[in-house]
Amino acid sequence: MKIRLKDIAEEVGVSIAAVSQVLNDKPIRISEKKKRLIKQLAKENNYSPNIAAKSLVLNKTNTIGLVIPDINNPFFAQLAKVLEDQLRKIGYLLILVNSDDHFAAEKELIQLLIDRNVDGLLLALSSESYTYEEELKEFLSSISVPLVLVDRGLDNFPVGQVFYNNRQGGYLATMELINNGHQNIGIMMNPDKNINCIYRYQGYLDALKEAQLPQQESWRVVTKFQFEDAYDKADQLLNNQAITGIVAGNDLIALGIMKRAKKLGINIPEEMSIVGYDNLILNDLLEVPLTSVEQDVTVLGEKAVASLLSAMKEQAPRYLQLTPKIVRKKSVGKRLESKIE
Ligand code: RIB
Repeated sequence: MKIRLKDIAEEVGVSIAAVSQVLNDKPIRISEKKKRLIKQLAKENNYSPNIAAKSLVLNKTNTIGLVIPDINNPFFAQLAKVLEDQLRKIGYLLILVNSDDHFAAEKELIQLLIDRNVDGLLLALSSESYTYEEELKEFLSSISVPLVLVDRGLDNFPVGQVFYNNRQGGYLATMELINNGHQNIGIMMNPDKNINCIYRYQGYLDALKEAQLPQQESWRVVTKFQFEDAYDKADQLLNNQAITGIVAGNDLIALGIMKRAKKLGINIPEEMSIVGYDNLILNDLLEVPLTSVEQDVTVLGEKAVASLLSAMKEQAPRYLQLTPKIVRKKSVGKRLESKIE
């Protein structure tokens, strides 16, 4: 039978905590003779720590839970990798779960992670959760484990939050088109349910207002952060003869639009310019490399881990808005003179 802390403690006549302290080379007020005996018994019996028992003694599991809304989205896959790397370097195991952008699943998964005694939680909120904001805030307030919101914030809620300035990102994307002569600019994203899109959409409106350009309801198409949804709905903008530029809520939406444009025989950027969001690694592999707003996930991940470690030390919540930047590639061109009314 595998020897346990309890067996060594009984053999030597000390507490389980004392055995744990000795085997972890932590200070403990017992005789050197007993310390030697503890180490000898552990070595002779090939003792290896029982993580569950160790966590009981130390009241920590060295595990962190991460909830993301879409494991299929390369943005979240990249973010999860950065977080896992960062946490492993400091001795934490990351447990990754996927809410599929649904609030009910998100709450259930958070509870499962808490039941497994994670030491902290990193949460990229589901789009749906913003529809139930009061219930969301009530639920998050009931969580007893240190928590940091990463990538998707929550206004007027006192918890650690690390995300990029989405209003600035939406402004940068739209100004990229305006600075290339585009005046009738469409937008495709999910401003009804997702806080990041709500602010990206505000940034789009800010740029149009600053440049005194028109905005029409029919130039705004609501879609999920998904390729298929964007492909199915792209005609509403691609077939609009007035529009010469499109701001996409993320790169998957932009890819759906670009695929549909190719199907329709619409040339990018000659006949339609497009700006994406996330600057995914795959953008360079496209037939027309996508100009996109970058949210550096390495910086996002590093700052989120630092904020969580701070929360775990019961320090004041860290609220951090990072600065996005435009990364110019080939999907934005000068507006064609033929398109000028
Ligand atoms: O691509 C997914 C989008 O949702 C990203 O822009 C990220 O900000 C996330 O919130």
